Amino acid sequence: MGIFTKKTIEAPVVVPRHVAIVLDGNGRWAQKRGLPRTAGHAAGSENFRRIATYCRDIGMEHLTVYAFSTENWKRSEEEVSAIMGLLKKYLLEALEKMEKDRIRLNFFGDLSRIPEELQELANRTLETSTHYQGFQANVCLNYGGRDEILRAAKKFAADCAAGKCSPDDLNEAMFSGLLDSAGIPDPDLVIRPSGELRLSNFLLWQSAYSEFYFTDVLWPDFDEKELNKALAAYAQRDRRFGGVKKQ
Ligand code: FPP
Repeated sequence: MGIFTKKTIEAPVVVPRHVAIVLDGNGRWAQKRGLPRTAGHAAGSENFRRIATYCRDIGMEHLTVYAFSTENWKRSEEEVSAIMGLLKKYLLEALEKMEKDRIRLNFFGDLSRIPEELQELANRTLETSTHYQGFQANVCLNYGGRDEILRAAKKFAADCAAGKCSPDDLNEAMFSGLLDSAGIPDPDLVIRPSGELRLSNFLLWQSAYSEFYFTDVLWPDFDEKELNKALAAYAQRDRRFGGVKKQ
């Protein structure tokens, strides 16, 4: 339990159905403390547990986090394997505490490229938690928005080639159903901590009408109070989805 216990945190006025977060700033968090980058990822992983629990408690439906992108393979072998190790540790611990936590875990991305052991663990956590109602955390692993769109386009083209559908059948709802996020509402709010002002290939299709929130706070320091600030900013937004303001 952190400094901000449930008792000292004001409940947010508005809780969006779906919040998506880029887990950024772990490296700088570690650097500031003279620690190896991997210590930042370890702190980032712990913070994911904390924020996911909070999101569940305030009644959110979906939290999607960008944990490892299709571009993150460019990092040193040491860093990549440390991140994979942390994911393994996280999923093992999640499995142990699943009945108590009751958080449904799901994964976006092309999991075929991640270590087999991790793929099996991801499948086990998904299957074990699939019947939990209420809150779902979607962890993006070897995920890229462009890659996801390409995989969906290939699926559709293959179905057309097999005579199951024709190009004229395609519409936005159908295409959404071919993405990793099939059946999940689009994110209402996308948060990027650590001061970077870009999307970095995260949920490109799904964020078409999302609200964005940027902060300089580094991910391991992004606690419940910081999330509440983001939710308070979101509550002030006027979402028009291309329409005009309601009188
Ligand atoms: C970005 O920060 C972070 C990553 C690429 C890795 C995130 C992975 C974890 C937190 C590990 C486990 C995750 C879960 C969900 C259990 P950065 O390294 O780019 O930071 P920097 O910009 O300060 O260098």
